[in-house]
Amino acid sequence: MCGIVGYIGERGAQGVLTSGLRRLEYRGYDSAGIVTLGANNQATLLRAEGKVSELDKLVLSHENKDTVGIGHTRWATHGEPSETNAHPHKAGDIYLVHNGIIENYKELKAELKNHSFESQTDTEVLVALVDSLYDKETLLVDAVTQALKLVVGTYGIAVVSTREPDVIIVARMGSPLIIGVNDDETIIASDASALVGHTDQAIYLNDGEIAVCRRDGVELQDMSAQPISTRVETIEVDMQAIQKQGYDHFLLKEISEQPVTLRSTLSGRVNVEDKLIKLGGLNLNTEELRGIEHVTIIGCGTAYYAGLLSSYYLEQLVDGLTIDVATASELRYRSFHLPKNTVALVVSQSGETADTLACLREIKRRGVKTLGIINAVGSTIAREVDGGVYVHAGPEISVASTKAFTSQVAAMIMFGIQIAQAKGVGVQDTSSYIEELDQLPNEIEAVIANYKEQISAIAKRYAHYDHALYFGRDTLFPVALEGALKLKEISYIQAEGYAAGELKHGPIALVDDTFFEVALLLDNWLFDKSLSALSEVNARGGHVFAITNSKKEIDAEETLRIDTKLDLLAPIVINVVQQLFAYYVAVARGNDVDQPRNLAKSVTVE
Ligand code: F6R
Repeated sequence: MCGIVGYIGERGAQGVLTSGLRRLEYRGYDSAGIVTLGANNQATLLRAEGKVSELDKLVLSHENKDTVGIGHTRWATHGEPSETNAHPHKAGDIYLVHNGIIENYKELKAELKNHSFESQTDTEVLVALVDSLYDKETLLVDAVTQALKLVVGTYGIAVVSTREPDVIIVARMGSPLIIGVNDDETIIASDASALVGHTDQAIYLNDGEIAVCRRDGVELQDMSAQPISTRVETIEVDMQAIQKQGYDHFLLKEISEQPVTLRSTLSGRVNVEDKLIKLGGLNLNTEELRGIEHVTIIGCGTAYYAGLLSSYYLEQLVDGLTIDVATASELRYRSFHLPKNTVALVVSQSGETADTLACLREIKRRGVKTLGIINAVGSTIAREVDGGVYVHAGPEISVASTKAFTSQVAAMIMFGIQIAQAKGVGVQDTSSYIEELDQLPNEIEAVIANYKEQISAIAKRYAHYDHALYFGRDTLFPVALEGALKLKEISYIQAEGYAAGELKHGPIALVDDTFFEVALLLDNWLFDKSLSALSEVNARGGHVFAITNSKKEIDAEETLRIDTKLDLLAPIVINVVQQLFAYYVAVARGNDVDQPRNLAKSVTVE
């Protein structure tokens, strides 16, 4: 959510900053800006409403050779998307970019009488505050440190001053920042993808740390100005993973690469021959695994739905295990109680979601063991959990989450199998899960290859509707919720997901010609019950698109029958069909599928 870049080195800063912002654009795309520092205390501030391409046009007409600068791509929190509200913000000699939220900005603003505010942002308050503490004798780093002591909220910031053109100050509290280091240059980014191609050596800033970045190195200090030793790590982001590679959209690429990314999730962890699972990073021995009595799963959005689907599998796998699943944004403010011998699974693609992180910290404070089900390596949540599983789905650039869901569910099923086996469940009782996990990548591959065209054609038929109702039973209920989320966020069709058995308790009143319905049916003991819900919708003039693995007769306007060997894990394959369906509906409606309106990837604000 919002992207930050910074550069100090020997190369032209404008080029490095704008190319970095293009990489980070998926984080926020309502406005963008850069400032570079040149000779004679000159600064060139360029800001534009809209996407980074608008900023690029401005840069073309204001090119310079400055070698220091900072930039930002914004997802509005305070103040509408506009050039005036775009970062960097300025006060006196100082320019600042900011991710996060300054919660006490109104109180601070009331004190800052000498600054005339132009924007509606909390960020301008922060830069004005730093400026108010930046007298002739003070260094920028000290003014920033003093200012941050007065701030309540979250931030990742980069700050420059025309008085000190050889330094960029960065600081972090709750919003990620990474500092890439080379011999003669330092590159700052809120996300490792902006460092790819520049360096793989980087420092992950921790909360409460401030960094003084120069061309030839970085010094870290804490909020009391005490030096901290620097920790340079090797980051692993593959260039190919952040490029479209011939696909029309990142979303289609990410849906299509699920067979490969899922193989990475399973690799080295599933032993099909011996029917065993080995998850390396749990930091739990067999005794501790055996002792788990309750699992709490937390996440937001798609990660929450991945948790919900996994909870069905976990309770099937481990007899007697109790499970609850909660959205982190709710749980963090509830007076929740966790039973003895609980393990919390913290599910997040980005590993940076503010609500999930806050919830993790609260759970840890209560002394409960936390495990991450995380995609982004080195992310804040990944570093704060006690152990966990990296899902290795690779970077998700498209805002809508797809491949992470599939890998998260697979990781949680593996976790369930490992608990079951530790508790003495016989290998034969978990073997069908292991076999299906092993086959899942191939099954997803076949479904994408065999049904893509058909799904695209069906999507065109439903693309003109304003409303949609998804329903399914049992494991297909969370899949229905996820299908509805995917459709609404990229097509802007209002979509609801329901448990099939709940339709008659209210939502069936919605059925009319402005709605279409997506009915999910598994060929199992609940098939007839699911069919009844579908018939009830048909009887009220519904327009049903049924997705099933069954060959049995189904009366629907459109039916997509997928041919899959899978039984237990067929819902995951059905979800891939839904992902493609949402994608093709959004394309048919002419939407920007990778950067849907009002959204941004990685929600680092509350
Ligand atoms: C939906 C989507 C969001 C995220 C949610 C959690 O397609 O992308 O609902 O799933 O913001 O994000 P992470 O997984 O990064 O914590």
